[in-house]
Amino acid sequence: MAESGGSAPFIRIENVTKKFGTFAAVDNVSLDIGKGELFALLGGSGCGKTTLLRMLAGFEMPSAGRIFIDGQDMAGIAPYDRPVNMMFQSYALFPHMSVEKNVGYGLKHERNMTAGDRRDRVKQMLDLVKLTELAGRKPHQLSGGQRQRVALARALARQPKLLLLDEPLGALDKKLREHTQFEIMNIQDRTGITFVVVTHDQEEAMTLASRIAVMDRGVIRQVGTPTSIYEYPASKFVAGFIGSINMFEGKVTAATKGEVEADVPELGGKVLLASDAVAEKGAAITVAVRPEKIAISRARPKGGNAFPGTVKDLGYFGKDSLYRVKMASGTVVSVNSVNAIRVREDQRVAQWEDKVWLSFEPSSALLLTQ
Ligand SMILES: Nc1ncnc2c1ncn2[C@@H]1O[C@H](COP(=O)(O)OP(=O)(O)OP(=O)(O)O)[C@@H](O)[C@H]1O
Ligand SMILES: [Mg+2]
Repeated sequence: MAESGGSAPFIRIENVTKKFGTFAAVDNVSLDIGKGELFALLGGSGCGKTTLLRMLAGFEMPSAGRIFIDGQDMAGIAPYDRPVNMMFQSYALFPHMSVEKNVGYGLKHERNMTAGDRRDRVKQMLDLVKLTELAGRKPHQLSGGQRQRVALARALARQPKLLLLDEPLGALDKKLREHTQFEIMNIQDRTGITFVVVTHDQEEAMTLASRIAVMDRGVIRQVGTPTSIYEYPASKFVAGFIGSINMFEGKVTAATKGEVEADVPELGGKVLLASDAVAEKGAAITVAVRPEKIAISRARPKGGNAFPGTVKDLGYFGKDSLYRVKMASGTVVSVNSVNAIRVREDQRVAQWEDKVWLSFEPSSALLLTQ
């Protein structure tokens, strides 16, 4: 849904730093977000996500750098004068007000709306979040998920061009979270409003967002689509932060265009990688392979990138199984296998202490240098 190439970004964050005393909570961040995107800021606790969001909303001023929203420099512009609304994690609903009053609260200050306009807008918002029937209830008479939808309706009621959501689903249980994620995506799709969502949950970011920025200690480590972040992480940090991954130290033994061969003692031999990364013979590298990209078999598979080991642990999760396989070097490799065929326990590919072979495609292994 991002605006097609060439047009100016809807949000431009230009070399923005925010210092609290001498500590840089956000450190020289530059980022463009397109109109109509559902963009996620993802990172661990304290990495600067909320601080960045608060600067977009105007609750904090950058110590350095500039922020443009819809082409306008935000320097000196108060939160209320920005085309932005923010939904806080706590929802901050008014307990004594009905759902309807909560949703309409922000419209009281809209000067060019009549009372009729306001009523219509509230109706429309309640309809959007499917709360029309609960309009007269107070927040304490609602479930967590319903309260979350009231907060969303209230944030959307002023029809901001940009909606900022700080851990919007943090208070919900897993099932409700999943359901609400799709509801948010739906609403975003129907309204076309640009959403920036803060989360520390990588699955949530992957599910929700058109693009993700991975933050770490005040800086953005990588920006990309969920697929590019997961399949082509640019660093060990991002590879390890998103999903799980096996990482092995190696040394390049041969490198031609698009193909690298490395000695990886932890696996017990040479690994072939399909990689465009520039690698020189003798260079120290990290070979990274996601657990689901490794095949496990009793017989030695044909072809390269096959290494023997012993099953030390086995977890059965219904749709898939997790194996931990110890290599001769002592390194333990995680393998995730989809249980595509229904079999009894004693018919499994491997059991505890079984000797197995692990193998993977050259194109499934990542070459990381940082
Ligand atoms: N007003 C403040 N004064 C001093 N330090 C602050 C202030 N606000 C935030 N910080 C610090 O800045 C860093 C980033 O905080 P921020 O709230 O942006 O993190 P976050 O990524 O949102 O984390 P979380 O996932 O825990 O909400 C933290 O180390 C925090 O302690
Ligand atoms: Mg936060």
